[in-house]
Amino acid sequence: MAKIKKIGVLTSGGDAPGMNAAIRAVVRSAYYYGLEIVGIHYGYRGLMEGDMSPLGMRSVSSIIQRGGTILHTARCLEFATPEGVSTAVETARSNGIDGLVVIGGDGSFRGAKELSEAGLPTIGIPGTIDNDIACTDYTIGFDTACNIAVEAIDRLRDTSESHNRCSVVEVMGHRAGYLALDIGVASGALAVLIPERECDLKKEIYDKIEAHEKSHYIVVVSEGCEISSAQVAKLIEENTGMTTRLTVLGHIQRGGAPSALDRVNAIKLGYRAVDLLYKGIGNRVVAIRSSELIDYDIQEALDMKKTIPEDLYKIAQIVSM
Ligand code: F6P
Repeated sequence: MAKIKKIGVLTSGGDAPGMNAAIRAVVRSAYYYGLEIVGIHYGYRGLMEGDMSPLGMRSVSSIIQRGGTILHTARCLEFATPEGVSTAVETARSNGIDGLVVIGGDGSFRGAKELSEAGLPTIGIPGTIDNDIACTDYTIGFDTACNIAVEAIDRLRDTSESHNRCSVVEVMGHRAGYLALDIGVASGALAVLIPERECDLKKEIYDKIEAHEKSHYIVVVSEGCEISSAQVAKLIEENTGMTTRLTVLGHIQRGGAPSALDRVNAIKLGYRAVDLLYKGIGNRVVAIRSSELIDYDIQEALDMKKTIPEDLYKIAQIVSM
């Protein structure tokens, strides 16, 4: 395989705090290895349209602490076709790009695999607040999103306690409950509703509220649950008589400065992605497992199944009594 001389980096799908730290690491590592580096704007759409510009060593100064992504991001349906992939590969070639780093989630990795198979070696870096990527313990943005939600719930608890209310809080996570579970545990919620588990509202919420002498309660609901958070709030009020308020945290969870953990992991993953391309290796996802920096074949990574940590789910129920 010919030596890779010029690489591109893009962010794809929903943004996540820490993506900028990863971009910075990719750029600085590229300079370390003597590679040229360009930033591709708006994800795969930018790659198809040739929307890109060179990234100087200092162009990534003072972005380590910024949320969002300086490269912007998009979800591009046109790219997910054979024509889209070949247009992207041709545009990369005509711009002299012979290796690519894609920061995003599962959907973005499918694109990275297609590109690698079509002759553009591509490395995926897990970046999503949802932490729903099986090959890694940890995705960039998850820790920050948890912290933002926990801080918001601490505030809700103050007002909830003053008024003797129940606060139902809807959090993000797409179709997965990883984010909700950690947020629920860290904020001392009475119950956490996640899409992966049935929740017996009577046993896990109404009976507990009736049995307790507490003045306030927090219930965390993942956005992916079949039952809506509004329905949960309504049912709690109807069945317990406790005044209940719903707060939907929404995109607040995706903004703001990344936590130290997100920055450190983003930097490790960013470096590893470039190191692989420099060695002529593509079609990999970089990951962190048991604190170790590793990488997998993209298809192998996509085939892995992730499950809710049973022990944490059980502990959450025990300590919420
Ligand atoms: O995947 C990240 C995420 O924030 C999910 O938690 C959420 O379901 C989705 O993106 C929201 O997407 P959008 O920003 O397009 O509304």
